Amino acid sequence: MYRWDAEEYRTSSSNQKKWALELLSKLDLKGSERVLDIGCGDGEVTAAIAQRVPRGSAVGIDSSRDMVDLAATRYPPERFPNITFFLKDAREIDFDEEFDAVFSNACLHWVVDHQSVLAGVKRCLKPNGRMLLQMGGKGNAATVLEAIAAVLRMPRWAGYFEGFDFPYAFYGPEEYRSWLAPIGFQVNRVELLPKDMVHEGAGAFAAWIRTTWLPYTQRVPESLREAFIREIVSTHARIRPPDGNGSIHFTMVRLEVEAEKGAA
Ligand SMILES: C[S@@+](CC[C@H](N)C(=O)[O-])C[C@H]1O[C@@H](n2cnc3c(N)ncnc32)[C@H](O)[C@@H]1O
Repeated sequence: MYRWDAEEYRTSSSNQKKWALELLSKLDLKGSERVLDIGCGDGEVTAAIAQRVPRGSAVGIDSSRDMVDLAATRYPPERFPNITFFLKDAREIDFDEEFDAVFSNACLHWVVDHQSVLAGVKRCLKPNGRMLLQMGGKGNAATVLEAIAAVLRMPRWAGYFEGFDFPYAFYGPEEYRSWLAPIGFQVNRVELLPKDMVHEGAGAFAAWIRTTWLPYTQRVPESLREAFIREIVSTHARIRPPDGNGSIHFTMVRLEVEAEKGAA
């Protein structure tokens, strides 16, 4: 298991938050819905959802205690009465027909077994409920993965990665469609969207690696972690040099899924 540093995530997740808000604008909320946010992280996106449903409510779930604790501290019920957070794994969603919509940003590529997730989503939605999911998809972060693969081959680091399996599930539309139709979802849209991710300099890129590439960084002893991250950053600079302003760009590929449960 990987351990998220929630506070560090809060301060170095501007890319994820920006994409979350773009995604949220596609959910077209009317203001009285009850919405589930899967993989709510530090709660900021759940709070943005709650703001858009002043007569409804938002529930954030996450499998990281650190994240849920930070979310609950940032958005306490006394000041945010329409937000609740639960420690809950995406594969174990056990709510029963109580949500009008399910939303998820930048979480589900951490989960291999999406069929369990989708069964829980289906059960927790009211009839005609909607879901809007975005996650890392097929082809995601190719140059970052290329840089990491090169670093993992270096004698200094290779020993820490013996028996290491690729930790993410970057699925494509074919897989998703094949899971959605049999459980009765009406699929509105499943597509891969390439997106330019930008980090303003090596420090910001390193912070993103430090906070989100945990399956790799946490294989390395803590005393060597910063050197490992620097190695990835410098290797990436050789594969894809920074632009004239020193900003680092690469293509992320997001899988976006829009579907409806249909009438009861
Ligand atoms: C990159 S963060 C995204 C947080 C938030 N959605 C956002 O857009 O800022 C990914 C989150 O997914 C959560 N996560 C990973 N695997 C999970 C699982 N199996 N069940 C629930 N949450 C999970 C992590 O704990 C982390 O908080």
